[in-house]
Order: sequence, then structure tokens, then C-alpha cells
Amino acid sequence: MSDGLSALVAEYKDTSRITDLPNRHFIAGKWTPPINGGMMESFDPGNGEAFHEFADGDAADIEYAVENAHAAFNGEWSAATPATRGAVLARASSLIRRHAARLSVAECLDTGKTLQEAEGDVMGAARCFEYYSGLPDKFEGRSIPLGPEYLAYTNWEPVGVTGHIIPWNYPISTVSRSIAPAIAAGCTAVVKPAEQTPLTALMIAELLLQAGLPAGVLNVVTGRGVTAGAPLVSHPLVRHISFTGSTNTGIEVIRAAARNVTSVLPELGGKSPLVVLDDADMASAVDGAIGAIYENAGQICSAGSRLIVTRKSHSSLMETLVSRARGLTLGHGLRRPDMGAINSSKHLAKISSAVEAARARGLKIVTGGAVTTDPETGKGWFYEPTIFDDAPVDDPIAQDEIFGPVLAVQIAEDIEEAIAMANSTNYALVAGVYTRDFAAAHQLARRIDAGQVFINEYFAGGISVPFGGNRMSGFGREKGIEGMRTYLKLKSVAARIS
Ligand code: NAI
Ligand code: MG
Repeated sequence: MSDGLSALVAEYKDTSRITDLPNRHFIAGKWTPPINGGMMESFDPGNGEAFHEFADGDAADIEYAVENAHAAFNGEWSAATPATRGAVLARASSLIRRHAARLSVAECLDTGKTLQEAEGDVMGAARCFEYYSGLPDKFEGRSIPLGPEYLAYTNWEPVGVTGHIIPWNYPISTVSRSIAPAIAAGCTAVVKPAEQTPLTALMIAELLLQAGLPAGVLNVVTGRGVTAGAPLVSHPLVRHISFTGSTNTGIEVIRAAARNVTSVLPELGGKSPLVVLDDADMASAVDGAIGAIYENAGQICSAGSRLIVTRKSHSSLMETLVSRARGLTLGHGLRRPDMGAINSSKHLAKISSAVEAARARGLKIVTGGAVTTDPETGKGWFYEPTIFDDAPVDDPIAQDEIFGPVLAVQIAEDIEEAIAMANSTNYALVAGVYTRDFAAAHQLARRIDAGQVFINEYFAGGISVPFGGNRMSGFGREKGIEGMRTYLKLKSVAARIS
């Protein structure tokens, strides 16, 4: 077994497999077969073929994992000092970097994304563990002045067993940004990765055990949403749930959690605007717009799926935008094209039907608009980089999340209309603004409803910048210091001392 990148790529090319990928649950520090014996297949979206089998878990596996997480919370982990927790996370970060090639190849094959995107996600995961490794010993309480006869203070305590429901578009990024702060806070966890992308969550769990995390603190149960996800989010011993996925499933998760009065952090969909003002550096605005919608083939909750431009700049901007979109290469992720595959045939059909419905309504497609395949093999699940021009504000193409490489361009008459358009959907996750006018940039940042605003660089930020949505995009914040506060509960102590 080699962990070198070229050896792994060659192995897959020759055998259509990678040896020693995990295929069981990870519970209580051990590879654990599914209690009811079910297995399911993981597909490589780049060629549409199954390349791996993994456990199809259910309520029995969830029960076993939650019991172990509960025991670990009341055992060794609650006694670990904050410095010890930080040290485990720091070692995990180094181990992720050491095993980056293997993690990246697994992520590329499981998701269909390009290898360079997978490598970026793995480095981001390492950085996430590094960031949270520095926080456990810095969450300080306060003392509250009640006068000479009292002593009052606050303490942060871990919330307990936490459940983590992970989506298929950014598996290692999402599991890391959810698990690292939970562990930093002193919580224990049960993770349910998406059924399309089980691998890297399992691999991260094994690396954390090697980093010194006690058995049972982090457990991963693979399987489907209804059979494995639902029993986790409705389990009474689970005291917090972090959910990333669709708005509809998020609503179900909130409903299930409500029965146990369990807290939920829902990180849901988006239809985020990227507003380009007339004085913007147009080359950088086009760069930003291309990355905002075609990175990860548009399968990003925070994708910039609406480009809002004034009539004055519209035609010149469109010219470069369309030619850039047409120039993007597609193909199997391991060959490092510009854009990878769509994660599943089911999701590809969903993207295609949204575009076909818009075409039937008479909307103008200026490029793309078709299902395609890897040009080298004729296989795989791909969708062309697509642009709709002059999309009406109330049309579904400008309102509904498509979660694919489909951009809706909207034309505004002036800045006021651009702001109104930016705020015209039920979502409010992120927004982009391109302008050289400092005051206008910050005026827009104030007036656009979003959890995060990027100015002159879409996706600017990183793990230290809080992230999350408003309205139908969710509530609560992940990443940053706020991301760790999610996993802590505040206790106030007031004592009479005289
Ligand atoms: P989904 O929201 O159903 O799946 C996300 C996760 O939730 C998966 O791990 C799934 O197994 C789990 N899940 C499903 N039903 C559950 C339940 N009842 N209880 C607990 N967990 C459950 O999303 P799906 O069907 O994979 O994709 C549909 C749409 O969701 C996409 O077209 C896209 O618009 C959106 N989406 C948004 C994401 C985001 O990052 N905000 C990520 C993935 C999908
Ligand atoms: Mg897969």
C-alpha cells in the first residue's frame, strides 16, 4: 500500500479501486460491521461506476454509537484538560497533512470533484483542526459584581453528545468544521456522512484516534438519511445537532430535534447574489463570478448563482463571462480538469429538469444547458457550464436553488434595484460585491441580507470567519470562535459568601 499521490492515481487507473479504503462504521475506536449486515455501493461520478462498498447503517448502529458517545462523554473526555483537547486536535491536523494524498484521492472519487479541489478541501480540513486546536483553553467566563456578600461567575460547559449530519458536496470540509469545534469544546460526537460520500469522515475518525482522541469520543455511522440520519437526530441522548443539507430535510431535522428540545444548527441552501457595480475591476469580477458558480460544479450552498449587473455594464461583462464559461474543461477529477462531475445521476437529472423547465418558459440560455460526459471516456455524470441571461426576478431560475453549474444573470437599472434584486429570494446565505467604491461596497454589505458578504473576492475568508445563513438558509454560525460556542452551554454560579 502506498500513500503517494501518483501511486494512488495509477492504482485506480489500473484496477478501478483503491485498496484499504474503510468499509465499516467507526464506533468506540474500532471498525465495526453493521449490526444488520447491510452494505451499499459508493459511486465514482467521474465515470458513473461503483468503486467501493460501505456499511448501510440503521437505528441499531446509531443506538450503539450514541451509547458509546454518551459513555465517552461521562468518562475520560470530560476529565481531559482544555490543553489536552487542543493537543489532540493539533496532532490530528499534522496527520491530515501527512495523509493528504490518500484523503484527496478518496474525496475526489467519492464526490466527483477535481483532484485540485479535493486537495484544497483536505488542506482546509487540516487548517480547521489547527485553528480549533488553539481555542479550548481560551474560552473564559466572567465574574459578575453582586457586591461584597456574593460571588458570581459564569462557566462554559460542553453540551454533551452531538450529532452531525454531513452533505455530499464538501464531505471532509463539513465534517471537519463541525467535529473540530465539538471536540475542542469537550463534546463527543456521532457523525452520519451522506450516503454518496462516506469515505473521508471515516478516515478522519481513524486519524483522530491516532492523534490520541479517546475511543468513543468520535463515532461515524454510514448509511442513508431516513434509516441512519433520522434515528440520530431524534435520539434523546443527543443534545445538539449540526445539520448541513437541503432546506426541506433541515426542516424535518428541526422538527425531530424539537421533540427532545435538542438544539440544532441548520446550514441550509442558498441563491446567493454577486453584485457587480459599474466601477468594478471587471476582470476580477468575471474571475469571481466564474469561481462562484463553477467551482465544485456549482454544488455549493454558498455558490454565487445569481449575477446582478447594471444595464450599462451588462453586454461587455457578458462577452467575457460567456467566453470564459465556454473555455472551461470538464472531465474525470483525477485528470485535474477545470470542472468535475455532478455527484449523482439523481442530482444530475434534477439540474437538467430545472434548466429544461426554464427553457420551456422561454428563458434565454446563452451557453451550456445540456447533460454531458467525460470527453475522454464518454462516461460519467456531467453538466455543461450554463448561463441564463436577463432572468426575471420572480422566475424559479432566479429564486430556487439548483445546486449545479447554472448561473442566472439579472439586469438592474441602478444600485437601488440591484440591492432589491439581491434581497429578492427566500434565502440569505452569502453575497458578493464587486466595486472600487469603498463606501458603496460597505453600504451594500450593510443592506444585503446575508450571513457573510465577500467584497472584491468571492469566497474570501476561511475557517476563522464565521459562516451561516439567515431566513430559509438557516440560523446559527459555524467556523470561527462562534463555531465553537455552538458546542458550549453557559452556566452561571451565584454564591452568598458572607
Ligand atoms: P439532504 O438534505 O436530504 O441530505 C443531506 C444529509 O442529510 C445527508 O447526509 C442525508 O443522508 C441526510 N438526511 C436526509 N434525510 C434525513 C433525515 N430525515 N434525518 C436526518 N438526516 C437526513 O440533501 P440531498 O437529497 O442529498 O440533496 C438535495 C438538495 O439539497 C440538493 O439539490 C441541494 O439543493 C441541497 N443540498 C444543500 C447542501 C448544502 O451545503 N447546503 C448540501 C447538499 C445538498
Ligand atoms: Mg460517491
